[in-house]
Amino acid sequence: MSWIRVFQLLQPQSAASPVFYRTSGQNAGNFFIFLFRLLSYYPPFLTGRIMPLTHTKDLFAKALKGKYALGAFNVNNMELLQAIVEACEEEKAPVMLQISSGARKYANPVYLKKLIEAAVSLSTIPIAVHLDHGDSFDLCKECIDEGFTSVMIDASHESFEKNVEICRQVVDYAHKHNCVVEGELGMLVGAQHDDGEEGGGYSKGGVYTHPDEAVAFVKASGVDSLAVAIGNSHGAYKFKGEQHLDLERLKAIKKALSDGGFGDYPLVLHGASSVPKDLAVEINKYGGKLGEDTAGVPEADIEIARRVGCTKVNIDTDLRLAMTAAIRKVLVENPKEFDPRKYLAPARAKVKELVRHKVRNVLCCAGHAFD
Ligand code: G3H
Ligand code: 13P
Ligand code: ZN
Repeated sequence: MSWIRVFQLLQPQSAASPVFYRTSGQNAGNFFIFLFRLLSYYPPFLTGRIMPLTHTKDLFAKALKGKYALGAFNVNNMELLQAIVEACEEEKAPVMLQISSGARKYANPVYLKKLIEAAVSLSTIPIAVHLDHGDSFDLCKECIDEGFTSVMIDASHESFEKNVEICRQVVDYAHKHNCVVEGELGMLVGAQHDDGEEGGGYSKGGVYTHPDEAVAFVKASGVDSLAVAIGNSHGAYKFKGEQHLDLERLKAIKKALSDGGFGDYPLVLHGASSVPKDLAVEINKYGGKLGEDTAGVPEADIEIARRVGCTKVNIDTDLRLAMTAAIRKVLVENPKEFDPRKYLAPARAKVKELVRHKVRNVLCCAGHAFD
């Protein structure tokens, strides 16, 4: 790293300066920059209260070793962030904060940066910051330059070859800048059999991730983790009747990657909200109009996915439901209320309770913050 760069990094931060401080991996220089900055801007460091981001690859390595899953929770505003980080702090759980392109548009990247900096400074647990569903090289580059510890490039809607090409471009840039990349193969369309799938075999080119294609994809693209399609989907209407994740396929993908020389390779489960019935009922009780057919991934499925090897588990919808249920309740029960703190505080508390439950009882990462 040049001295000019060191000088730039020591300048007071502007919207254009790097956002976060990654501390491990090839770019050891970052650690010293981080120390410089702490000492110049954050005297409380000396009291031991401030902690930089933890690299996604360090969190993955520990999660794989400890056989637990990391919660990757979506952050869109201050209350969600506080709820997630406070819950994980109390449960001593490492955590991944993920930011979508929609979140960046809603909150502004600089607000998100400052909010996360505040959360990191007020907590002691390992925290990684990840771009969720990056849809272009430019967006990934922006986040890598800002110091995100990992990015997802989602080109799963493209052909296999195009998906590989786009991922490769992001991987090449990310790896030069001490960042790791999540790719996705298959489509998150929910539970259904692929056309052409017969007798329990796995069809190629279908909507679900094929084990052999997963190996070829990881090999060709160089991605560091892979989001799989095994019947999962986003939102509050995932399954009908008794549908489940295709956990046998998940096992086959994990095994194929191991047999293909990728060892204990980290898999990612998107669409992992469980859509708790009580939250849907509460929302509707207080004037909401969610359909009767809300359904999420049963927690028992997530539990198995974790044991099979889903290292990162993405949860957003459940946080939205918890927040909405609490806000609706306050406003319906207190129609004269107009102080946002009166409904945002209960909303934050409800999200926090939900996150505590997830990390303790479903992901089993509670208690692993300082392994
Ligand atoms: O998978 C998508 C996440 O739930 C983020 O949703 O794009 O509405 O922020 P968003
Ligand atoms: P849910 O909609 O199930 O919460 O999924 C979130 C997600 O996958 C974010 O990438
Ligand atoms: Zn997702």
